[in-house]
Amino acid sequence: MKAFTALFASMMLLAAPGCKKAEDNKGGGAGASGGEAKPEAKPTETVGGGAAGAVEIAISCGSVGKDYETCKAGTEAWTKKTGNKVKLVTGPTSSTEALALYQQLLAAGAADIDVFNLDVVWPGVLGNFFLDLKEYSNGAEKDHFPAIIANNTIDGKLVAMPWFTDAGVLYYRKDLLEKYQEKVPTTWAEMAASAKKIQDAERKAGKKEMWGFVFQGKAYEGLTCDALEWVDSFGGGSIIDKDGKVTIDNPDAAKAIDTAASWIGTISPKGVLSYEEEEARGVFQSGNAVFMRNWPYAYDLAQDEKSPIKDKVGITVLPKGDGANAKPSATLGGWNLGVSKFSKHPKEAADLALYLTGPEEQKRRAVEGGFHPTIESLYQDKDVLEKNPSFTELFDTFKNAVPRPASPTKGKYNQVSNQFWSAVHAVLSGQKKAKDSLADLKSQLEQLSRGGKW
Ligand code: GLC
Repeated sequence: MKAFTALFASMMLLAAPGCKKAEDNKGGGAGASGGEAKPEAKPTETVGGGAAGAVEIAISCGSVGKDYETCKAGTEAWTKKTGNKVKLVTGPTSSTEALALYQQLLAAGAADIDVFNLDVVWPGVLGNFFLDLKEYSNGAEKDHFPAIIANNTIDGKLVAMPWFTDAGVLYYRKDLLEKYQEKVPTTWAEMAASAKKIQDAERKAGKKEMWGFVFQGKAYEGLTCDALEWVDSFGGGSIIDKDGKVTIDNPDAAKAIDTAASWIGTISPKGVLSYEEEEARGVFQSGNAVFMRNWPYAYDLAQDEKSPIKDKVGITVLPKGDGANAKPSATLGGWNLGVSKFSKHPKEAADLALYLTGPEEQKRRAVEGGFHPTIESLYQDKDVLEKNPSFTELFDTFKNAVPRPASPTKGKYNQVSNQFWSAVHAVLSGQKKAKDSLADLKSQLEQLSRGGKW
């Protein structure tokens, strides 16, 4: 129990929202600056309470961008409605680190967190620790995208309710493309050529910190997302197919990853090899990059009153590769809320999870934070569309987003992803050629799968 208390305390410490350091931001200039609505740097906060018979529910919110403050506003509304109290905690910004912490907490049977925010790739890994929300939902799941409900259903149990959905998108500087008469790129080759041209010209004109393209290149789950997009956009598939067969060792995939490696040090800073989402946004939002790959959350922040690039930002589908099988591709992301089976107040915890994932809250989150709803009807809502015109343009991108191979690899997904991002990182950092790295990856994955039986 002592070990667990120490672990939990370290989570709280890590949690301090708004404390993200920009030190990994080498070569890229400033950290996330301007227009960032920073939540208070408190490890935990308790909101609401006071009603007779009130209980306290602890929830883990995210900590990237506006995650924490948006989560806090929703839980406050729930405490007003129910009289209960909520303790807010947040984990690390990296999905990989958050998973490691949650696995340890749950394996120790900890009741300290009732409602967990769960990445869309975790149901197969963590599902056993969560209650079946169908028992509390009154059929609410019918309003959500069926593919996400299917993703969150493990052995017939709905282990998490969808909270928001994500897909990778390309951000670009409208003003710079116009200044240099460049078109919005539709292929990676066009993107790299525009990026280089604008970067070099801007540097010549005195903007020494300017880079062409920033993305998530650190060895973690975010790199799996970015690299899957490169591979799939060259027609190289999705690492492992839906029947569990390892498909990653193919020439299109190798070409995609070698192409990405050619960006390092030319249009992307070397520091990108340790960037998560927020480091990339930091460079882009402070005006030091022409293009950025990120999730939709970054748009709302880039458009903040205090943002140096307000009204200069465009958002569009990611470029495609080249070759006969090329097509634009976006990795499917997103977050869900699940109730721990160790919760001492499962009824109230489920009520909070259902409230936060319900239509009223998803609408508020879309309007105030640009989070993409998982309730399809909200894509017709006037207020949502007025605030987020790109929701219509990007609807198909979201609908056709490519899932990471979490369903076929079940409880082993995190090991699969870890091997994939490591193999890609080795190529990006110049240690290996993609062809060799993917051949090695193939044998590792086949070993892990024991011949395709995950
Ligand atoms: C975003 C996505 C999530 C993904 C993560 C990777 O948070 O929503 O699904 O795993 O980025 O960094």
